Amino acid sequence: MTIEKEYTEGRITFLSADVEHYSGNKKQITASLPVFYNARMRLNRDISVLFLSSYLRDNKIETMCEPLTGSGVRTLRYLKECPGDFTAKLFDVNPNAIEIARKNIKKLNLVKRAQVVKGDAKILVLTESREKRFDYVDIDPFGTPAPYLNAAVQSLNPDGGLLALTATDMPVLCGGYQSVALRRYGGFSVRAPFVHEIAVRLLEGFAYRVAGLNDYSITPLAVLSTDHYVRTWIKIEADRKKSNRQTENLGTIRFCEGCMQTQTTPLALKYDENEFEHAIPNCKGPMRVAGPLWIGDLFKIKQLKGAQEVFNQDDASYYHRRVPRILDEMIEEDALIDIPFIDLHALCDLHNLTPPKNSDIIEYLNNVGYNATRTHFRPTAIRTNAPLVEVVSAIKNLMKR
Ligand SMILES: C[S@@+](CC[C@H](N)C(=O)[O-])C[C@H]1O[C@@H](n2cnc3c(N)ncnc32)[C@H](O)[C@@H]1O
Ligand SMILES: [Zn+2]
Repeated sequence: MTIEKEYTEGRITFLSADVEHYSGNKKQITASLPVFYNARMRLNRDISVLFLSSYLRDNKIETMCEPLTGSGVRTLRYLKECPGDFTAKLFDVNPNAIEIARKNIKKLNLVKRAQVVKGDAKILVLTESREKRFDYVDIDPFGTPAPYLNAAVQSLNPDGGLLALTATDMPVLCGGYQSVALRRYGGFSVRAPFVHEIAVRLLEGFAYRVAGLNDYSITPLAVLSTDHYVRTWIKIEADRKKSNRQTENLGTIRFCEGCMQTQTTPLALKYDENEFEHAIPNCKGPMRVAGPLWIGDLFKIKQLKGAQEVFNQDDASYYHRRVPRILDEMIEEDALIDIPFIDLHALCDLHNLTPPKNSDIIEYLNNVGYNATRTHFRPTAIRTNAPLVEVVSAIKNLMKR
């Protein structure tokens, strides 16, 4: 018998294994809990609720699937907090999770809308979508979503389906294990101050290639990079012509450790046609190359603004306090999303400068004719179309004031 505890998140109160009981004082959330529930992922679920509500403004969802559900909290929140009367299928291999998810469904009066099935997600996603394809699949695993992706794409409605993926294997996505990144995501990562952007783009690139091998195109709607995970929301549709054209969104990002310069190059372009200009005279590197990865857009502004409107019209107390700022920053950075962000603290370390306030440097750069924005990826980073040397000189000028 699992020792259970009641938790509240968003608009629901539900049961899961008593985390404190099973993990003791360490409060370490591990895969060995009898039923997995990580309260720290609430921000992820809050934003997922908002993005689904925003998506539902323009798209219809009849049925969704969460193949790795644990207590069921995520899907139960969608059912209770998002508009519409869509139904859901929830899977898990763990019998304790199945039992608790069923209890939660009853407790929340969702028996007519939610069905729990025990078994391996990779198989169930395919068999359970045979009669009716899913309109939304949300893969939120412990670690990488990669092994589930092909089945998930094949289970989605070819006329348009939403796919959300969480990845928590950050050591791999952030350059710690090159061979694992290459076999798991099909590209190299690099250790760099903007590595979370590389992580997101590796995940996005992999999702595009799995969609593409099934003749689907992708439309990235949003990404989230925070705490110790990355997440992406993608609309996919059967459209091989668009998928063909989207090969131009695969490329590499070169990064110089010596001067922090970055350069994005589509795979179709040769490096010698896109010469690397270092940001410090006579810089000798070393140079690193990340990818192949997705170098295209990461957001759809309508998706973000829709989520912001839903949030503004709702009671903010149901959401994590960080939500409004994250949405603001995403909306801002979308304008410059094709340029990798610059971590100002790392840049200042390199040049022995004092990091300015983000708002000061952004204002300065905007005043001298460049565009500059915050980024939700990192509080100490900005996006700008100003060359790196100009950013350095702007910081020096600000220090003189
Ligand atoms: C990170 S937890 C899910 C958390 C949940 N999505 C949430 O938001 O709270 C991952 C779950 O996947 C289940 N799982 C792992 N491998 C599986 C597989 N091959 N098929 C189905 N479930 C699996 C685990 O039992 C665990 O409950
Ligand atoms: Zn350099």
